[in-house]
Amino acid sequence: MSNNFSDEVLSRRTFAIISHPDAGKTTLTEKLLLFGGAIRDAGTVKGKKTGKFATSDWMEIEKQRGISVTSSVMQFDYKDARVNILDTPGHQDFSEDTYRTLTAVDSAVMIIDSAKGIEAQTLKLFKVCRMRGIPIFTFMNKLDRQGKSPLELLAELEEVMEIESYPMNWPIGMGKEFLGIYDRHHNRIEQFRVDESERFLDLNADGEIDGDHPMKQSSLYDQTLEEIMLLNEAGNEFSREKVANGTLTPVFFGSALANFGVQTFLESYLDFAPSPQARNSTEGKIDPLSEDFSGFIFKIQANMNPAHRDRIAFLRICSGKFERGMTINIPRTGKQLKLSQSTQFMADDRSTVDEAVSGDIIGLYDPGLYQIGDTLTVGKNKFQYEKLPQFTPELFVRVTAKNVMKQKHFHKGIQQLVQEGAIQLYKTVKTDEYLLGAVGQLQFEVFEHRMKNEYNAEVRMEGQGSKIARWIEGDVDESLSSSRSLLVTDRYDKKVFLFENDFALRWFQDKNPDVKLYNPMDMEQ
Ligand code: G4P
Repeated sequence: MSNNFSDEVLSRRTFAIISHPDAGKTTLTEKLLLFGGAIRDAGTVKGKKTGKFATSDWMEIEKQRGISVTSSVMQFDYKDARVNILDTPGHQDFSEDTYRTLTAVDSAVMIIDSAKGIEAQTLKLFKVCRMRGIPIFTFMNKLDRQGKSPLELLAELEEVMEIESYPMNWPIGMGKEFLGIYDRHHNRIEQFRVDESERFLDLNADGEIDGDHPMKQSSLYDQTLEEIMLLNEAGNEFSREKVANGTLTPVFFGSALANFGVQTFLESYLDFAPSPQARNSTEGKIDPLSEDFSGFIFKIQANMNPAHRDRIAFLRICSGKFERGMTINIPRTGKQLKLSQSTQFMADDRSTVDEAVSGDIIGLYDPGLYQIGDTLTVGKNKFQYEKLPQFTPELFVRVTAKNVMKQKHFHKGIQQLVQEGAIQLYKTVKTDEYLLGAVGQLQFEVFEHRMKNEYNAEVRMEGQGSKIARWIEGDVDESLSSSRSLLVTDRYDKKVFLFENDFALRWFQDKNPDVKLYNPMDMEQ
């Protein structure tokens, strides 16, 4: 294939933004899209603030989810790069899809609210990136407000996340006294609230301002120089290799709202973020530059129109070129399919996509043939990409059929939805009851609705609250099951304990040191 093709692939930067709600993901995304010219006005990126919805109202959920369909993937060009940003839904939309999205990216941007530090949802998403060895770039946001000190934020990052950090730049003051950032990477200062022509101030070889400058009058400047010296002497060394394997995160400071530090961040990010990487398959690593098209499905979204059963499958292209109308294989089923309906997602609309290459995400019309995790290949290729990891559910409900006469529908629906990856199914060892597990509440509501509408089976769900699920290595004595440490089996018949809380887990481990428990999400690859 032409050089043109490899240039295209190498220009791709595909990432997700991970953050806790309110850290500034929507605001940062919007600023990035503005730089890329993908949107003209701020306020275009729709996200959560489309009004609260009653969680039982399906149409509203669909509306909400419809919005997340269009903003699921956003693409723009910046200089020589083509950037794909994948949304990781949070809030009420938090689900396994949020995690699975992270299997489709080559890097992640983590936004931290500098006043709050590291929050729960950020940590959860970070762990998934960590498990996959994805490079992580950190943006410390809201420097226009008073927050934690930058040294404190770095220490927290290294302690809580156990990752080395390298500040690419460093704030000079914060809140009302925020003067700008000291850009170590470009050896310059970027000034806040000054005329555009004065924004960048180049530094001399010692990393200081030459001659007279008002900035030098401020004690904050001296303090910054001291801190930079400290970082140079005692901080981590920058290492491209460590960034690439996800063990060191470059850190940027700024304010998404004030659009300060965002462009510097974007440009440095594009310098260091990886282009599409080779991925493991049943036939070894597949090179993103290889000619044959392949990809995998990481998300399936029900159609907005409940009258139609069709769905959109989100495909990450891992090698070759997609051309509309091409015929592909689904090695899992052995079926072949012509891909004639394909969609690309831009900030606030969708358009038909005719061509796309490794690194890109496209939406495919799904007549019901795909499953989450499916590999698509062409020609004689029958390999499959690595199975998507199983994510540890935190919320559980007991589920039964409302109408005992409809048991058949009930079982069929559950089996199919579980296979599709919409929800996880567990069975209690002693009593053979069905429990469903999810990482977000919305998954239960979607399940209930789809059981009724697609399988004509109304369900009764009794909330069991949150539990800590731990898988067991080897076998275990069933008599250890109790209400506080409930023994269940997963869909592969593996035994799992559901602990009532952290205390119950620790108590159990103390009493039964021989039982080897593990959390699949803690396993490094
Ligand atoms: P999210 O998508 O991560 O949930 O966060 P979002 O961007 O919606 O930002 C959450 C709130 O934080 C918003 O304020 C937003 O304006 C604010 N924010 C984002 N970046 C910055 C920043 O750099 N500095 C400051 N001071 N605030 C920032 P809101 O009042 O909740 O919403 P809105 O009414 O402004 O939309």
